[in-house]
Amino acid sequence: MSFTADRLLLFGATGDLAQRMLLPSLCALHDDGLIAPGLSVIGTARSDYDDDSYRNFARDALNKYLPDFRKDAIDSFLGRLKYQTLDATQPDHFVTLADEIGTIDQGMAIFLSTAPSLFEPTIAGLSAAGLTGDKVRIGLEKPLGTSLSSSQGINDAVARAFPEDRTFRIDHYLGKETVQNLLALRFANIMFEPLWNAAHIDHVQITIAETVGLESRVGYYDGAGALRDMVQNHMLQLLALVAMEPPANFDATAIRDEKVKALRSLRLVGPDETVTGQYRKGAIDGQPVPGYDDELGQESETETFVAIKAHVDNWRWKGVPFYLRTGKRLPERTTEIVVRFRPVPHSIFASRGARTVPNSLVIGIQPEENIQLTLMAKVPGLDREGIRLRPVPLDIAMDDAFAGPQKRIAYERLLLDLIEGDQTLFVRRDEVEAQWDWIDAIRASWETHGIKPRSYTAGSWGPSSAIALAERDGVTWHD
Ligand code: BG6
Repeated sequence: MSFTADRLLLFGATGDLAQRMLLPSLCALHDDGLIAPGLSVIGTARSDYDDDSYRNFARDALNKYLPDFRKDAIDSFLGRLKYQTLDATQPDHFVTLADEIGTIDQGMAIFLSTAPSLFEPTIAGLSAAGLTGDKVRIGLEKPLGTSLSSSQGINDAVARAFPEDRTFRIDHYLGKETVQNLLALRFANIMFEPLWNAAHIDHVQITIAETVGLESRVGYYDGAGALRDMVQNHMLQLLALVAMEPPANFDATAIRDEKVKALRSLRLVGPDETVTGQYRKGAIDGQPVPGYDDELGQESETETFVAIKAHVDNWRWKGVPFYLRTGKRLPERTTEIVVRFRPVPHSIFASRGARTVPNSLVIGIQPEENIQLTLMAKVPGLDREGIRLRPVPLDIAMDDAFAGPQKRIAYERLLLDLIEGDQTLFVRRDEVEAQWDWIDAIRASWETHGIKPRSYTAGSWGPSSAIALAERDGVTWHD
């Protein structure tokens, strides 16, 4: 049902995500007049605040995470905020919450960002208090389970109160402008699609590299690891956008239908097609950083790096490897997709001593958004000693091409879509389950084959076996 909510209920309103992303995003949307003046934001969490003290809490967070934002704009935004202390395990707290919220005739959007153990009691509490009717939709923040079966448990609990068309599963990578631009690059240009297949593409690389370590997420990260934290969601969504068939329309059903088909075509990964690693102490940007065990305060076998050679087993991608890697404490923060084309079938320049290098398309997603197509060109000269060719980049920096429009935080887009009810950039249940299915099989294979993380020095590109994973196919990672 289509409606624009005039209530936004935030669970986890004092958490890290709320402070760093949700409150700043809402404040920016407020300031740009993108959310209706009547929309009220009700925060809930266990901490004991009232409306005023929560506004002070939110002000501190906004001053910290939006340091250059105008103070009057922050003050004006704070006027929308209300707060209700809530312990999700106490059903009567939801009754008080329902009183605080009042009527929801216009519609309410819920953003659930709490510990997974609170999902089920929260849904039950909302249901019992009459807060799940036709005019209520729910956004779910990860982690939504740690395996296919636990994710199904959460999805079943949610489905008891919210049908799929009112369930919005968040993968914040889909809120990034640059990720959405992948669709424009592929489907708003004629030149890539005829080449976008096994006949013309040699391989694809997807890298999500981070310089940060464990940060303050000890409790969560050590139980998750890089495979579940990054590959199960963000990496597979990027892969699906690269691999999917052209959807007929830009709408939630058409796009998600195509993504899920690609995800279901992923081949089971063999034991020699994955490498896992864990960082040891090293240096990043010249600064010493501790090893994972030291940050954690104990020994652990959790992987902080994973590299995978994946295959999408369908007609389009037959035989084209997708090399995926992600890790913490790598030398730089970068997310990019590299599409390496095949060599020209016959080089007319070989007889003149020139070597041709296959074209590549490098799609930089962050920190900078740029698209670089490497083309062969002739090195100027009279060629008395043979023709020389060299790859030269055709470079588009999005910041230069679109200097005007303001850069948006991924959550601005996602919160707005949640409030207005557009599911295109949210993950459907069948997608999540296809993702978990593939990830569970990788974890099972690690277990069966006793695959344990290998050490890598913080500030390097992961264990040397990750380099070998690509190099034994004659492929070099794009660093
Ligand atoms: C989160 C992961 O989903 O994404 C974090 O839990 C990771 O471990 C983060 O750091 C990366 O997001 P971004 O937007 O900084 O690339």
